[in-house]
Amino acid sequence: MHYNGVIDRYKKYLPVSDKTPVISLKEGNTPLIPALYLSKLLGEDLEVYLKYEGLNPTGSFKDRGMTVAISKACEEKVEAVICASTGNTSASAAAYAAKAGLKCIVLIPRGAIALGKLSQALIHGAVVLALDGNFDDALKLAREITDKHPIRLVNSLNPHRIEGQKTGSFEICDCLGEAPDFQVMPVGNAGNITAYWKGYKEYKDAGKISRLPKMLGFQAEGAAPIVRGHAIEKPQTLATAIRIGNPASWKMAEQARDESGGLIDMVSDDEIIEAYKILASKEGVFVEPASAASVAGLLKLHKQKYFSLKPKTQNLKPKIVCILTGHGLKDPDRAIKTIKEPKAVKANLKAVLKEIGY
Ligand code: F0G
Repeated sequence: MHYNGVIDRYKKYLPVSDKTPVISLKEGNTPLIPALYLSKLLGEDLEVYLKYEGLNPTGSFKDRGMTVAISKACEEKVEAVICASTGNTSASAAAYAAKAGLKCIVLIPRGAIALGKLSQALIHGAVVLALDGNFDDALKLAREITDKHPIRLVNSLNPHRIEGQKTGSFEICDCLGEAPDFQVMPVGNAGNITAYWKGYKEYKDAGKISRLPKMLGFQAEGAAPIVRGHAIEKPQTLATAIRIGNPASWKMAEQARDESGGLIDMVSDDEIIEAYKILASKEGVFVEPASAASVAGLLKLHKQKYFSLKPKTQNLKPKIVCILTGHGLKDPDRAIKTIKEPKAVKANLKAVLKEIGY
């Protein structure tokens, strides 16, 4: 069957009509990969799955929301779009705006976004402004600009972004035939946890699933406003995508946590890097550090025996889905810094054989 992107597949659940010009790069339909190593490591009769969102057209989950936001911007004939970003939103906005022929303006914190993401925004032709401030400052400015000028905000404060992103939960349910028991994900500006929770609830209302998962969100320790209960003025973490001190969808994230009986906790940069290495070296899945926060959270909860304390659903093994939000190639510098540079060896057989132990 021909796959035509999330709007085509899930239009019944999305704010589109026959009049909406669909701008799509065939985003979505990402694999749900059984995580054999992690399932074994947890050893609690659990099945762990990885929703590999890094395989979206611009390498992150943002494309699901951007196809809807940009299609609606075209339908409503706006002149330009703008976003503040820690990188992935800007890459996605720039690509979809390019396809739509819309002007795209991007505000980023200077020196604080991964190089892959910066290169994407630039090559897709966005006007990229590197601000002397953090993400929260950039988002504040973007909101002020869109309040006064005919430019559409395409951050997740734009409800069309949330609508598109909820298709991630539809895909998980369609694949498993039911909702998972637990969903683990990183939390930054908190749009994605809001979107997934909305999606699960809508699928339950539509009779597609019979229960809802517990939503387990993880922030980075140095950028954990929701966990600490107050905004963080100078958020710090090597997971630059989630370096956010005052999430726009803070309340909605708390609502997802509380309604689902889940939690929002934090993981340290060391825990993130450990999970990042496990994913790459044991599961064969390369993600950016922010995405590894979900698996770092999974491992933290396992150490706390969180899963063994939960009642099991019937006789089935509980299913845990970790959302891996962005591709590892977004931030290759981090991979190289984490492991060692390749060893320099003379180009002769003897030297190579010696190095590889033969
Ligand atoms: N993972 C990645 C790779 C991200 O890029 C983001 C957010 C998140 C997780 C957190 O998602 O904000 O919905 O809670 N990136 C935004 C950006 C902020 O500008 O690209 P969230």
